[in-house]
Amino acid sequence: MLRIEKVAGKDVLMESEIPFLKLFKKGKVREVYELGDYLLIVATDRISAFDVVMKTGVPSKGIYLTQQSAFWFKFIKEHGFSTHFVSDDVEEIAKITGEKRLLDLPWLKGRVMLGKRAEVLPVEAVCRFRIFGSAVSALKNNTWIWDKIEADDFSEGSLIKNGPIFTPTEKSETDDKITFDQMVTLIGSKETAQQIKETTIRLFKLCRDYALENFGFEIADGKVEYGFIDGVLSLVDETFTSDSARFIPDKSKEVFRKWLTDHNLRKVAAVLPDEVAMMVSDLYRSQCQDMKIKL
Ligand SMILES: Nc1ncnc2c1ncn2[C@@H]1O[C@H](COP(=O)(O)OP(=O)(O)OP(=O)(O)O)[C@@H](O)[C@H]1O
Ligand SMILES: [Mg+2]
Repeated sequence: MLRIEKVAGKDVLMESEIPFLKLFKKGKVREVYELGDYLLIVATDRISAFDVVMKTGVPSKGIYLTQQSAFWFKFIKEHGFSTHFVSDDVEEIAKITGEKRLLDLPWLKGRVMLGKRAEVLPVEAVCRFRIFGSAVSALKNNTWIWDKIEADDFSEGSLIKNGPIFTPTEKSETDDKITFDQMVTLIGSKETAQQIKETTIRLFKLCRDYALENFGFEIADGKVEYGFIDGVLSLVDETFTSDSARFIPDKSKEVFRKWLTDHNLRKVAAVLPDEVAMMVSDLYRSQCQDMKIKL
C-alpha cells in the first residue's frame, strides 16, 4: 500500500506500491520489484538501526541514498568494476524496459534504480581504514578474527596503518562476524571468497582516494554486497551511502545510532521527534552536497 506520511511538515514515503509490478523483495528500507529481466529498486524514507525499522521516516532519505549510490555506481563502473546498476532516471528506465506507466508515479522520482538481477551472496563485505565501535571492542577483547592490524592504539577512530582491512560478516538477522574460512564455507568457493576480498580492498582504496581528493571527506569504513550476474561477480545493493558507510566528517547513520544509544533506544522501533528526523535528513542531504550531487 502506498503510504506517504508527514514528518516536520514534509512528505515521507513509508511504503511504496507499484500495482502493475510484482514485488520481488521487501527489505527494511527498500522495496524491490520485478521488471522484465531487471529489478526496480525503490528506496523509501524508512530508517532502520540495529536491525529495527523506526516508526517515523526521514524526509527525502530514499532520494539522498539513491543519489549517493548512483554516483558511486557510475564512478566504479567507469573504473572497470562490474555492478548491477543500469539507471536511476525514471524516463530512461521507462524507455529501457518499455514500462511507461512508471512515468505516472511522481513519488518515484530520484529514489528509484534499475538494476540487473543478481544471485546475492550471503556476505556483507565490510572493509575498514579506521577502527570504530565493534572493531575497537574486538581488538581490546582479543576477539578480532581477521587480518592483523597495525595501529598506534586501539581507540575510536584510530587509523589502520596497513589498511584497509577486510572484516566480513554474515548477511543474516544478526550480522555475525565471520573469518575468511567461514566465508569460504558460506559461499562454497575459496576462489570467489578471495575475489570478493581483493575486489573490496581495491574498491575501497579507489573510492577513499577519490573522495578525499575531490570531495574533502574520508571514507572510514563501509560495507558492500556482491552477487553473480550472468556468472560475473558484481557489486549490488548500495555503495558508500550514509546508510552503508562511515565518513569523516561523519554524515552517516552512525550519528543517528549514537542518538538512539544516548536515549536508551537501541533495538527499539522508536517514534522520532521531528527535530531528530530532520537532523538525519539534513545530514544525508549535506553528504549529497559534499559529493556535489544536484538535488
Ligand atoms: N541486483 C540485485 N539483485 C537481487 N537482490 C538485490 C540486488 N540489489 C539489492 N538486492 C537486495 O535487495 C534488498 C534491498 O532491500 P534493503 O536494503 O531494504 O534490505 P535490508 O533490510 O538491508 O536487508 P535484507 O532484507 O537483505 O536483510 C537487499 O536484500 C539486497 O540484498
Ligand atoms: Mg540494505
